[in-house]
Amino acid sequence: MMNLAMDRTVPLGMALSVALFALMACDGKSTATITGSSTPGPRQSSLSLGAQVGQLAFFDKNLSGGKNMSCASCHDPQYAYGPPNSISVQLGSDITQSGARAVPSLRYRDSTPPYSDDAPNPDGVTSNSPGGGFMWDGRGTTLAAQAALPLLNPVEMNNSSKDAVVRAVENGAYADLFRQAFGADVFKNTDAAFNDLGTAIQALETEDLSFHPYSSKYDLYVFNKIGGTLTPAERRGEVLFHSTGVANCSGCHYTGANFNGSSGLMTDFTYQALGAPRNDKSIPNNPDPIPANDDPKYFDMGLCGPYRTDHMPATPDTANPYCGMFKVPVLRNVATRGTFFHNGVLHSLEQVVNFYNTRDTNPEYWYAANNDGTGAPQANPGWALQPTHVPGATVNKYNDLPNSQQGSIDEEVPMGTGDGGDKTLASGTQPRQPGATPVMTPQQIADLVCFLGTLSDGYQPPAAPPTAGRCVK
Ligand code: HEC
Ligand code: HEC
Repeated sequence: MMNLAMDRTVPLGMALSVALFALMACDGKSTATITGSSTPGPRQSSLSLGAQVGQLAFFDKNLSGGKNMSCASCHDPQYAYGPPNSISVQLGSDITQSGARAVPSLRYRDSTPPYSDDAPNPDGVTSNSPGGGFMWDGRGTTLAAQAALPLLNPVEMNNSSKDAVVRAVENGAYADLFRQAFGADVFKNTDAAFNDLGTAIQALETEDLSFHPYSSKYDLYVFNKIGGTLTPAERRGEVLFHSTGVANCSGCHYTGANFNGSSGLMTDFTYQALGAPRNDKSIPNNPDPIPANDDPKYFDMGLCGPYRTDHMPATPDTANPYCGMFKVPVLRNVATRGTFFHNGVLHSLEQVVNFYNTRDTNPEYWYAANNDGTGAPQANPGWALQPTHVPGATVNKYNDLPNSQQGSIDEEVPMGTGDGGDKTLASGTQPRQPGATPVMTPQQIADLVCFLGTLSDGYQPPAAPPTAGRCVK
């Protein structure tokens, strides 16, 4: 099914575990220790030599500065290679510092096309726009090149140099396998050996089926297999997911065929600015604010920096259409996560769908500017699930982007509607008005969340279909 969202046909220029300390998991999901639950499985003999090296490296804590963290510490195979806990951003190997972004799942990443400012859309209809690449901002060019980033990042694996990493491999248990895969003299050239390590990890992420198992209920359903019958609630959720006028999820979380023939990944690999709330201490009871956000001048603006540096605004006040854009994430296995959006600000799927539903109708709920002890109405009672409109509450809308950089905020369905607001954007869409009725009902939100639950891998059909439960009727 093809879903065209109006403003995405407009050219961009116009549209202007690592918790060592027990941390509260706000939705009851597990908290993690630095040992984590991740151990390598038996070595898959079908893997190429390089991928076998990659598998050993992926779980190797010696590849971190503190010898206490592997790739799997953050990308835990038991959590679809995503974070093993609900905290927003993980602590690094030097446990005094944490990153500023949520850990993505690594499943289904091998289908990602290279980053381009002018990428074609897999739907074949929407005009070109920024798309592809690894990381929330696409700055990882290949899976192999990406691996260098966490290894050398001081707030992640915290190695002092490429040499430190290569010597850890050379002195480690799989040095011989590494030589077999990449040559007897491989350790003589540090740069080449470091690159080979990336190649090995990429081979693992590409070859190992556990990185793309296609074993969800949704897969059984799409391929008409036994056990793949969606319940009425899940099926209603699926219809909504594709509905252009109501939820419009597949307008961005595209389910059709991708460039390499894979399908159903729930992303079109594009970049969008949703205006996620700032994850900082102003949120009451925030379990895990991002330390970098203590600085009111710090903004994570995705495609326009600070980690990616090729689209930075000329001055902080020069409007730049790339600012605020983050990659549309793969939604497979999203129900196994406990933290959502690039800054990990939300902690349940209900909150995420509520955000889409009420960002514009109840902005005071998401962008409260009233937690300053002035006695103004408190509109944000600890991120309850059903936002209510609070007349008179003060709002600092899109508080995680400077005012000058809010021009690309997305106003397509379900956020904007074109149903009679007082402002029509260049894209032809209209924002919803504060206090207007949100587009989705609580029942529809529940149905969507049920559908998202069918995207988790490792589904075992029950002996008899369930007759009671949240997602049945
Ligand atoms: C301390 C936690 C941590 C560790 C350890 C870690 N990562 Fe990540 N990983 C992240 C975060 C956070 C991001 C998103 C960063 C961004 O967007 O700037 C990420 C992103 C990625 C991505 C991009 C996924 C996508 O959707 O584009 C890949 C691939 C990846 N990591 C692989 C690895 C590999 C391989 C290792 C080990 C060499 C590793 N990571 C170690 C936290 C971690
Ligand atoms: C305009 C494009 C667009 C539409 C429409 C859209 N999304 Fe998204 N979605 C995104 C982008 C971009 C992100 C990442 C935003 C960020 O991190 O700042 C995202 C993030 C998410 C996440 C968090 C995933 C994670 O790993 O953190 C979920 C869940 C999600 N969307 C579900 C939905 C559902 C359900 C709908 C329909 C109600 C929907 N989306 C509609 C673009 C879109």
